[in-house]
Amino acid sequence: MKVAVVGCGYVGLVTGAGLASLGHDVGGIETDQERRRGIAAGLPPFHEPQLPELLAKQLAGGRFRVSADLGDTADAEVVLLAVQTPANEDGAIDLQYVESAADGLAQVFAARPARRVVAVRSTVVPGTVDERVAPRFPGPDTAVASNPEFLREGSAVEDFLRPDRVVVGCHEPWGARVLEELYRPLGAPVVVTTPATAELAKYASNAFLATLISFSNEIARAAEGIAGVDVEDVLRILHDDRRLSPVVDGSIVRPGILSYLKAGCGYGGSCLPKDLSALLAARRVAGAEHPLLEAVRAVNDGQPARVVDLVEDALGEVRSRKIGVLGLAFKGGTDDVRSSPGLRVVDELLRRGAEVIVYDPLVGEDALRAYDGRVGFARELEALLDEVEAAVVTTNAPEFSALDGDRRAVIVDGRRFLPPDRLRESDRAIGRGPVNSA
Ligand code: UGA
Repeated sequence: MKVAVVGCGYVGLVTGAGLASLGHDVGGIETDQERRRGIAAGLPPFHEPQLPELLAKQLAGGRFRVSADLGDTADAEVVLLAVQTPANEDGAIDLQYVESAADGLAQVFAARPARRVVAVRSTVVPGTVDERVAPRFPGPDTAVASNPEFLREGSAVEDFLRPDRVVVGCHEPWGARVLEELYRPLGAPVVVTTPATAELAKYASNAFLATLISFSNEIARAAEGIAGVDVEDVLRILHDDRRLSPVVDGSIVRPGILSYLKAGCGYGGSCLPKDLSALLAARRVAGAEHPLLEAVRAVNDGQPARVVDLVEDALGEVRSRKIGVLGLAFKGGTDDVRSSPGLRVVDELLRRGAEVIVYDPLVGEDALRAYDGRVGFARELEALLDEVEAAVVTTNAPEFSALDGDRRAVIVDGRRFLPPDRLRESDRAIGRGPVNSA
């Protein structure tokens, strides 16, 4: 099939190269010249395992190309919109890029009438396809659909090629059939529904993950108040519930979702915080209240301060003390610092007057530009540990699990990543009550 993907950011590039690998003929449209050059040379503008190899292969095979011209979408049977959807100051979604791309496409299509499907792949609030995109394509030739992505950074290629399901929200049966055909080579179940259902399902999915994390952090808060109780032990007992860990063929299955039922310094990244805020803002405009989701967000907002409270519990006031933060990316295995819990811990430490030094195995010093030299940067973990009085672990970067008791700095495990026997009595951890020495 001839496919165009408008926007070659994270979602668009993985989707475009992925569809090309299924045998489709894919043209990516990207307005940023530098990004376009990199992509054409086989260099994705972000760190994502397997993507460079996939992209290079599809470019070489001639199944994927990139251009700046929206006019190049004219031949495509399917056009996927994967442009950015940033947040306004109040957390509401900014749909200007979706709308201007749709306007541009409408002009291209008007000059070259043909049957086409336009599918919104970006995460957009329920109602966007029906109210903001479809009206721009009034004729019977264009079917407009929602086709949300469910890709995780760090395993996006794998997630694209082996999805749990493909979601197609489209009112026109012929449009849904075209998208089913597009994804058929994946062999995954395709759920056909309405655009608004597809849109809300994407938000529900991320809100669910956020809820599990904040729930775990709420239980951690309870555990911290009780001597001898550790949230890790408490949640493990929950995990053992057969409704969460079923026994299949005599073996216990531990579903991946259980790793979100875990306490830490809060969720981050480019999706969970932004999507929850966008949904809440849209619902507020509609006059609706969502106390559970508001609380999920409030618990998350409070986590950095709780982590720093643990540092102060171990050391006393952090003012003018040297404190290390281990992990700047929003999770291990990525260099993405968007809405990173580690950076929020840095901010809280600075607010309380600490001297902060950071280390991350994948993130460079550039990520600290906004701090104007107010935050130190260590190139090596050992060098940082020698300098600081306490070090806060904020991500699950594999290197951090090897921290051992042979060090001066107090460790504050904000991600519950260290094996419990590596934590000394003087160390602290989210969700671990006062150590019961009896
Ligand atoms: C998330 C969702 O997991 C994807 O399904 C969704 O498609 C994507 O957002 C999106 O909307 O585009 P991502 O932001 O890459 O993907 O990251 P996750 O791996 O889910 O991590 C989100 C937060 O949960 C991070 O703070 C991370 O540290 C935390 N996390 C992640 C856990 O607590 N446990 C885990 O097992 C994984």
